[in-house]
Amino acid sequence: MLRIAVLVSGGGSNLQAILDAIDSGKLDSVRVELVISSNREAYALKRAESRGIPTMVIDAHDWPGPRERDDKLLEVLNELNPDLIVLAGYMKILPESIVGRFPRKIINIHPSLIPQFCGEGFYGMRVHRAVLEAGETTSGATVHYVDEGVDTGEVLLQEQVPVLKGDTPESLAARVLETEHRILPEVINRLSREVK
Ligand code: GAR
Repeated sequence: MLRIAVLVSGGGSNLQAILDAIDSGKLDSVRVELVISSNREAYALKRAESRGIPTMVIDAHDWPGPRERDDKLLEVLNELNPDLIVLAGYMKILPESIVGRFPRKIINIHPSLIPQFCGEGFYGMRVHRAVLEAGETTSGATVHYVDEGVDTGEVLLQEQVPVLKGDTPESLAARVLETEHRILPEVINRLSREVK
C-alpha cells in the first residue's frame, strides 16, 4: 500500500481525480493519509472532508513567516512519513529542508510542457495566460519529481494539449486540467507498483 500525503492550495480537482481513481479501483494500492492545505479557504479541504480523509491547514497567515510555516510542514511530514508526497495544485515552493528529506518521494503536477512556462512566477492561471500571449499552438501538462529547483526535477510523464483559436486562459486551463486528471493518477499508479 502506497501511503500518500496530498498538498493543495485551491480547488482540488487533481485531488478529486486521485480520490475518484481510488474509488473506481484504478489506484487499488494507494491510500490518501492526509491532505494538507496552505490555504484555509481551499475547496480541496471540503473534497477531502466529505470523503473522511484527515485534513490539516498550514496557512501562511497563521505563522510569523514562511520559514516557520515550512518548519511546521516538515514536522508534520516527518511524523506521517508518507511513501509519496503529491503536490496537487500546491502554490508554495518547498524549501530544501523538505525536498532534501524526501528525495524522489515528492511529485508535482504542472500545467505546461516543462521546461516551457515553468519556474518562479509560473503557476496556475499565469501559465495559461503566458502560453496564449506567446501565441503557442500547443500546451500540455507535466508530472515531475520535485528537486531543489523550481519545476526542474525529472519528468515522469508529459502530455500535449492543443491550444485552440479563441482560447481564453480559462478555456485552456479547463482543457489542460482534463489531461492533468488523467496523468496524475497514472503516475501515482506506476509509482505504487514500484513499492514492495
Ligand atoms: C492545476 O492546473 C495545477 O497543475 C496547477 O494549479 C492547478 C490546480 O488545480 N499547479 C501549478 O501551477 C503548480 N505550479 P486544482 O486545485 O483544481 O487541482
